[in-house]
Amino acid sequence: MKIKSILCAAGITLFCQPLFAGDVELAEMMGKMQYFTHKATLSIQEKNQPLADFYLHELEEMIEAVEEVKSYDGHPIGQLTKSMLVPSFEVLEKQVKAGKMKVADEAIQRMIFSCNACHQATAHGFIKIKLNRENTYMQDFKKG
Ligand code: HEC
Repeated sequence: MKIKSILCAAGITLFCQPLFAGDVELAEMMGKMQYFTHKATLSIQEKNQPLADFYLHELEEMIEAVEEVKSYDGHPIGQLTKSMLVPSFEVLEKQVKAGKMKVADEAIQRMIFSCNACHQATAHGFIKIKLNRENTYMQDFKKG
């Protein structure tokens, strides 16, 4: 249990609000990044450029939101996101925009490595993102 949670449980409400908001938001944003990364993977696999472009745009919005998180458990989340995730995301985005779907497929794998590198850097190495090519959605990712 974190000190903040103990103080919050002890009724010192000053410590409850920031802890709660921060915790929920970061995990939720991460969950959304995973979701959009998976859908982008399936779109790239089908060489469906407009759909991949759409999901990368959604992912970018989430990345921008994570960049706003100054600190979490003493880790500079925004700063780490900028240095660890943004460069590999930008390579991916560029390739999809240029319609280079084959290289984009490799680029998304490399981006996933940077997701995991940051989990390691923030003491969450037990969260391992793994490329999943199965379509588990009620959605067709094929072009046309
Ligand atoms: C700044 C470093 C950092 C980067 C970059 C990062 N993560 Fe995370 N991630 C974290 C931290 C810290 C947590 C734990 C959050 C918490 O405890 O609320 C987390 C939690 C998660 C979770 C667990 C939440 C859930 O819904 O199961 C998932 C999934 C996840 N990240 C996916 C990703 C994906 C996908 C990427 C890359 C597109 C990514 N993360 C990039 C630091 C990062």
